[in-house]
Amino acid sequence: NAASKGTYEHYMLKEIDEQPGVMRHISQTYLDDAGNPKVDSKIVDAVAKADRLYIFAAGTSYHAGLVGKALFEHYTGIPTEVGYASEAGYHFPMMSKNPFFIFLTQSGETADSRVVLKETNKRGIPSLTMTNVEGSTLSREATYTMLLGAGPEIAVASTKAYTAQVAVQAVLAKALGEKLGVKEAQEWNLHHDLAIAAEGIQQLVDGKEKLKEIADKYLIKSRNAFYIGRGIDHAVALEAALKLKEVSYIQTEGFAAAELKHGTISLIENGTPVIALINDPVTAELTRGNIQEVVSRGANIVTIVSKEFANSSDDIVLPEINYYMSALLTVIPTQLLAYYASRDKGLDVDKPRNLAKSVTVE
Ligand code: G6P
Repeated sequence: NAASKGTYEHYMLKEIDEQPGVMRHISQTYLDDAGNPKVDSKIVDAVAKADRLYIFAAGTSYHAGLVGKALFEHYTGIPTEVGYASEAGYHFPMMSKNPFFIFLTQSGETADSRVVLKETNKRGIPSLTMTNVEGSTLSREATYTMLLGAGPEIAVASTKAYTAQVAVQAVLAKALGEKLGVKEAQEWNLHHDLAIAAEGIQQLVDGKEKLKEIADKYLIKSRNAFYIGRGIDHAVALEAALKLKEVSYIQTEGFAAAELKHGTISLIENGTPVIALINDPVTAELTRGNIQEVVSRGANIVTIVSKEFANSSDDIVLPEINYYMSALLTVIPTQLLAYYASRDKGLDVDKPRNLAKSVTVE
């Protein structure tokens, strides 16, 4: 049964390992044999009328939304804003003329998101919930629903729901961009990219031993750590930092790589772990420069880098993939680092202190 741990010691690792299957499932559910998107035309028509997309979410789902922004803007040309549901509920964003709201939520029950949706409905704004739970509250209350189909996620720390949210947003971006006649979307072989993602994730989870070694060597004795990256890698850095801190209790911050030097670099000491993410072709060299800045202050650097930009045998090398889909691969080693840091500190990996899987209070 899908919700049992089987031979796994923890749900978190089981769910990390399930991600290649989740990518294949999303490809089968949302693309036809020729690779064309199969998204309810009512949804595509409704979103196509929007002059601006507003994505609201909490926690890990919010971080998936930051990747979604890059996908929607690149493949559809529609300006996209991403906000914390908890903030938007009481400080509603300024609206464009024809807004469309997207709610990202694994559980479909997050109270902070429900507050925003209530107000959205009051104002008659059309909405879509992307959720893992069929029939959940946010699914029932939104105009439309797209299911993630990631299967039950039991570990409190979200892993496969994040990659599923990125992939389903990619599907919608493709469908929408095609409908709007955007060249980037028409020329995009999403079917191929999702297959590459599934294979690439498989390779990365097969290499998990290396991540365990890094977690043991650099992370478990450290009180703090940093993730840095630019572009989509910045969005992934925020998620990676949340994952590591929530399960290992190592205080971790995710930074836009160049921002570190504007203050926070004063926290870098001998042995501070800094994990750099590099996929963005436009800024790869600049991020290498930012790595030098922290290395010269004594940081222990770990680099998670796409094949194209790898230059050392110590690098964690990511299989090659379209930059806009790179979060699907980059996040995997960061999930594994979080898992092993927590496990090898002897912590309760699946149920970190103070956390709940679904937060139904504001
Ligand atoms: C809780 C969970 C997080 C999750 C967030 C949003 O805080 O511990 O893992 O990202 O809620 O949950 P949702 O179900 O709306 O995605």
